[in-house]
Amino acid sequence: MINTIRLNQEAAIPVVGLGTWQLTGQDCIVAVAEALKAGYTHIDTADGYGNHARVAQGIKNSGVARDKFFITTKLAYPGGYTASAVRADGERFLQELETSYIDLLLIHWPNREVPFAETLKAMDELKKEGKVKAIGVSNFTPHHLDDALKAGVEITNNQVEVRPRFNQKTLRDYCAGKNISITAYSSLRGGETELPLVVELAQKYGKTPAQIILNWVVARGMVAIPKSSHPERIKENLASLDFAIEEADLAQIDNLPQGERVNSPSFGDFDY
Ligand SMILES: NC(=O)c1ccc[n+]([C@@H]2O[C@H](COP(=O)([O-])OP(=O)(O)OC[C@H]3O[C@@H](n4cnc5c(N)ncnc54)[C@H](OP(=O)(O)O)[C@@H]3O)[C@@H](O)[C@H]2O)c1
Repeated sequence: MINTIRLNQEAAIPVVGLGTWQLTGQDCIVAVAEALKAGYTHIDTADGYGNHARVAQGIKNSGVARDKFFITTKLAYPGGYTASAVRADGERFLQELETSYIDLLLIHWPNREVPFAETLKAMDELKKEGKVKAIGVSNFTPHHLDDALKAGVEITNNQVEVRPRFNQKTLRDYCAGKNISITAYSSLRGGETELPLVVELAQKYGKTPAQIILNWVVARGMVAIPKSSHPERIKENLASLDFAIEEADLAQIDNLPQGERVNSPSFGDFDY
């Protein structure tokens, strides 16, 4: 049984999910099916990944019932944020994903050209209709969140890049204070699996470097969503939950010197 973090009365997010960015075609179908068969209970996708239909096919191939797993998807940046787009795209996502509800719907990137309140209120309409169980954002800074929270719509999750060398401690503390959970993305990128400390801890615990990083993400109260196109790595990543790292070793990871983000598109708005 995979632990969950409660988002609201209707939704609790499993602390590990399968990331699907850059998973397309047959690779996506196989990865999703293998993940669900291996025991994953959470799939992370986005309109922008162009793979909703493949995710749906993978779900069907797994034979796992809809009430046994959680789906996160995201509104398309930048065109998906007006009230009419949220309505139309929300309905389209349900068809593409072949489901009657999305567990967690996120604003993929902040777009200050459409008021956050307009987007969030339209998302909240979908939630009131039972088509979405929880609402969140992604790539939001504290400043974006301050603005967005003024809409009065409950924001339950912020999905952001978190890696040992980009640990987002300030943002995480801010979100904790607002009862906003964190999903960590790209935790395995940026050469993190080759870091000497991570390799050393992998040897100490008899685990792989990826498992050390994912275990740290979850031990620090976040949701991990590793992506892999390899069934054996998909299983390896899930098994990162099966052991405990000593607090002193977790603290060593916390204290690694910090660097730059890996995902920094020109539209990122991270300086706001
Ligand atoms: N909200 C956003 O803006 C945003 C941005 C980026 C990502 N995301 C989400 O977060 C998910 C994860 O982020 P990500 O895909 O950027 O990076 P990631 O999952 O941290 O890393 C993926 C890379 O690590 C490799 N890998 C996976 N498992 C491994 C293992 N056990 N050992 C060694 N290498 C391993 C994968 O290769 P193979 O596939 O060859 O195994 C791939 O090259 C995405 O798929 C997406 O769902 C969201």
